[in-house]
Amino acid sequence: MQRPQSIALSAFSLLAAFLILSENVHAAPLCGLVPPTTTAAVVVPTGAPSGLPASANGTAGDVVATGWYAGWLGATQPPSQISWTKYSAVTFAFATTTPDSSQIALDTQSADLLPEFVSAAHDNGVDALLSVGGWTGSLYYSTAVATADNRTAFVKAVVGLVTQYGLDGIDFDWEYPNHQGIGCNTIAPDDSANFLLFLQQLRQDPVAANITLTAAVGQTPFAGPDGTPTADVSAFATVLNHIAVMNYDVWGSWSPTVGPNAPLDDSCSPVQAGSATSALKAWTGAGFPAAQIVLGVPAYGHSFFVDNSVAFNGTNNLALYPPFVASKQPLGDSDVPGAGNSTDQCGNSVGPGGTFDFYSLITAGFLNSTGQAAPGIDYVFDTCSQTPFVYNSTSEVMISFDDATSFAAKGKFIADNDMAGFAVWHVGGDSGDILLDAISGSMGLEQICS
Ligand SMILES: *[C@@H]1O[C@H](CO)[C@@H](O)[C@H](O)[C@H]1NC(C)=O
Ligand SMILES: *[C@@H]1O[C@H](CO)[C@@H](O)[C@H](O)[C@H]1NC(C)=O
Ligand SMILES: *[C@@H]1O[C@H](CO)[C@@H](O)[C@H](O)[C@H]1NC(C)=O
Ligand SMILES: *[C@@H]1O[C@H](CO)[C@@H](O)[C@H](O)[C@H]1NC(C)=O
Ligand SMILES: *[C@@H]1O[C@H](CO)[C@@H](O)[C@H](O)[C@H]1NC(C)=O
Ligand SMILES: *[C@@H]1O[C@H](CO)[C@@H](O)[C@H](O)[C@H]1NC(C)=O
Ligand SMILES: *[C@@H]1O[C@H](CO)[C@@H](O)[C@H](O)[C@H]1NC(C)=O
Repeated sequence: MQRPQSIALSAFSLLAAFLILSENVHAAPLCGLVPPTTTAAVVVPTGAPSGLPASANGTAGDVVATGWYAGWLGATQPPSQISWTKYSAVTFAFATTTPDSSQIALDTQSADLLPEFVSAAHDNGVDALLSVGGWTGSLYYSTAVATADNRTAFVKAVVGLVTQYGLDGIDFDWEYPNHQGIGCNTIAPDDSANFLLFLQQLRQDPVAANITLTAAVGQTPFAGPDGTPTADVSAFATVLNHIAVMNYDVWGSWSPTVGPNAPLDDSCSPVQAGSATSALKAWTGAGFPAAQIVLGVPAYGHSFFVDNSVAFNGTNNLALYPPFVASKQPLGDSDVPGAGNSTDQCGNSVGPGGTFDFYSLITAGFLNSTGQAAPGIDYVFDTCSQTPFVYNSTSEVMISFDDATSFAAKGKFIADNDMAGFAVWHVGGDSGDILLDAISGSMGLEQICS
């Protein structure tokens, strides 16, 4: 679709927006997000995307205010509940790769819900994207891009989805090229090179030439044939509108100690497991322009069982990076009490996820209704990772999460580094837009209507 609203950093685009305003006096009101006029000049990356539509050139200066919508939660979180006016685009998760390169799967529930999602987006002048892959849906990405024939078939499958559902774009959430994710993905040394060839071929398609193409990526650039990050990924920036760095799940139940889910920085922490700062440095160092990098931000946290004897550092202060008891993993908000282990897409037994959406931290009593530590709950804000932790000393459950303070810090980081914007996993995790308003506010985004 033609994006009716301009989410732009430049005074020029602001002017354009007002010109559109004056020309369309009879049109229905259209709203968009813009930073105040005091923002820095647009940074247009060198070698700006040549395969992108004319409007995509502006992508370098556009603010991306986006997030993923968890399609499987549609029964309790229908598309009508999304705070559409605060987003430029929302991405439906997930369609999944299949053993047949010409087929991309959408389960029945998603196929039923996607049309409603797309029309709700369009009613609000917001772009509707579909994400392909995810942690559980990337099993056959490598296969789909492995050969010229397979890429042709996969391009056709992607274009078919775009046409069938009237999508404005596709998000490629391949976790990960030539780097194992869930455990049974097909992987190959040429994955990243083949991914690029696929994207280039996709851009040649007349339908895909004009849509938004994005990728959800890890903290380091796509792995090359030897498994280490590719030194130069600049070619990806000529075919993708932007990448979203999934700066979350950095620490969790698999880690040696408690640690931040989504560290803004880790240069000052005892162990460097990656952060927004290191990820931005790694991707820009490999030639991907900051102006096309979106910071992925989590509206959820990870829980840990931390014994009282190690939870505190001094009398009242919560300890940072304390050890936890893995065998006592607390149940998260989507774990069913007494259900035991479940089986993943690889057939492996997996224990409780232990994650809590931000709103669940409120309903579970860790936070009060304004998203701050509830009475009787211990709280610490780690000034290095710029993220909070809460602890219930009775249940001995500690949570690493993000709150309004950490989202505001992330928004400032995005603005200070002239990044493209933010992407929330997932849009239904927030409570009363506490997090969304914090990050948008610190980026100085303002809504204009025409
Ligand atoms: C978009 O960018 C390309 C490549 O830099 C350039 O050739 C083209 O003129 C630009 N289009 C607009 C409308 O600015
Ligand atoms: C190409 O795709 C087909 C399925 O569509 C698959 O059977 C085959 O293994 C793929 N080729 C490679 C080299 O992965
Ligand atoms: C894509 O954009 C170009 C340039 O704006 C336009 O000529 C072409 O018709 C568009 N194609 C489609 C399929 O919308
Ligand atoms: C406890 O606090 C001190 C002083 O802030 C710090 O040096 C130390 O690393 C902390 N220990 C833990 C376990 O958090
Ligand atoms: C359940 O899952 C946990 C975590 O993945 C694992 O350590 C444990 O062995 C599993 N238990 C069974 C009975 O499979
Ligand atoms: C802490 O956990 C205990 C035990 O589960 C529970 O009874 C109590 O309500 C919790 N405290 C708060 C403030 O939520
Ligand atoms: C939530 O807690 C904070 C302090 O932790 C307090 O300032 C605020 O007033 C509380 N909000 C509500 C609605 O209780």
